[in-house]
This record gives sequence, structure tokens and C-alpha cells, in this order.
Amino acid sequence: MNQEQLRNIILEAHKNRFATKKFNPTQSIDEKDWDVILESARLSPSSFGYEPWKFLVIDNNEMREDLKSIAWGAVNSLEGADKFVIALARKNVVFNSNHVKHIVEDVLGLSYSESSPQSQFFKKFQENDFKLTDDKSLFDWAVKQTYIPLANMMTTASFLGIDSCPIEGFNIDDVESYLSKKGLINLEEFGVAYMAGFGYRAQELPPKKRQSLDDIYTVVD
Ligand SMILES: Cc1cc2nc3c(=O)[nH]c(=O)nc-3n(C[C@H](O)[C@H](O)[C@H](O)COP(=O)(O)O)c2cc1C
Repeated sequence: MNQEQLRNIILEAHKNRFATKKFNPTQSIDEKDWDVILESARLSPSSFGYEPWKFLVIDNNEMREDLKSIAWGAVNSLEGADKFVIALARKNVVFNSNHVKHIVEDVLGLSYSESSPQSQFFKKFQENDFKLTDDKSLFDWAVKQTYIPLANMMTTASFLGIDSCPIEGFNIDDVESYLSKKGLINLEEFGVAYMAGFGYRAQELPPKKRQSLDDIYTVVD
């Protein structure tokens, strides 16, 4: 494949991705395809490499039915998407949290101490540079990062001919308390970021409407 063909394939994947409103409930995603989509989430970048996320996939029909009443923007996906994802963002990711210690030691394979240059640099970044000094701003910072795996999953799906729909149409408090009652989330540790459906379209691709590049892109010489 030459570079021009590659460019076209990439653009086609982006043009073919759309927020699918109607999924075909009888068509399921090949597990090997789904594994690649999940891998694109797992390999996503995160601030300092601390991966402040988790992904639930709701296969349970009863739960899908329950979620419809508290997730208005998800009804189409809950009814027809083969995979229904709820992304969780981690709370309180700070230099001396158990999670940071776990990532540094068990994932990055480094030694951890609260007073190490790396820990102190991260502390300074959060507190001075990004002003992440309260629970809400720390959570929102983690949520922002969870959108990177979302984009990667949707684009990867599109490359594989699989459709998707990103979803923020739900009541966060209701969804969090529902998942908590089901024992699927510890609200001390996680909150809900977004949902997403993946499957196969049962509708035509709508025309793409976007601002022009001139409106959103400036080159500064
Ligand atoms: C963060 C986010 C939240 C969204 N929430 C919903 C939703 O709850 N339900 C829905 O059907 N579409 C939702 N969408 C889809 C957008 O409406 C859609 O991406 C946008 O209109 C552009 O259209 P396109 O993705 O089909 O090109 C959401 C998209 C994003 C990025």
C-alpha cells in the first residue's frame, strides 16, 4: 500500500464513523475485532501514564433495560448495540494515592516513594501547574483522559467496519447510584465518565456537517 492509499483509508474510516442512532440488534461483533477495539483503549495515552480509567461492558439484558430509564441518550444503543460500554474515571489520583503507587511499581516496574523526584514532580504539576487541588477538579481531569480511549475505540471500530455511538445523555447521579447498588462501582474510587455503544448500523450514513478547516485551524508563523 502506498502513502496515498493509506491516507484515503484513514479518511474513509473517519467519514464512515457517525453517532449511530439505530443499530441492528441481530448482528454481533466478532470477538477478535472486539479485542482489537479494547486494545486500542488499553494502549491509549494518559497523563504521567497513570491510566485513570476502567471500562464496564454491560451484556446483561435486565441491566440494559434498567439503564434505559436513566440514560435517555443511550436508549438506541441499549436496544441494538452488541457491546455497551460504561467508562469509569478514577477519583483522587494524586502523588501519594494507592493507585499511583500501584502503577509505578506494578505496571511501570519502578520503585515508588512519596518523596521521589517523580512523585514530587507529579505533585507540583497537579497542584501548581494545573490547579488540581480539589476532588472535583481531580475527577474532571481523570474524566478528560478517558475520552482518549473513547476516540481510539470509535476510530478503531470504524476501521473494522463497526459502528458506534458516544453517549453523555444520562443522569450521572442516577447511573452512579444504580451501578453502586449492583456492586459494579465503588464510588469512593470511581465515577461515571460516559457510555458508548458498538455494533452495526441499521440506517444510512448521514451527511457529515462540520465547520470548515479555516474556522478551526490557525497556523502561527
Ligand atoms: C461527548 C459526546 C456525547 C454524546 N452524547 C450522545 C448521546 O447521549 N446520544 C446520542 O445519540 N449521541 C450522542 N453524541 C453524538 C453527537 O451528537 C454526534 O457525535 C455529533 O452530532 C456529530 O455527529 P457524527 O458523530 O454522527 O458525525 C455524543 C457525542 C459526544 C462526542
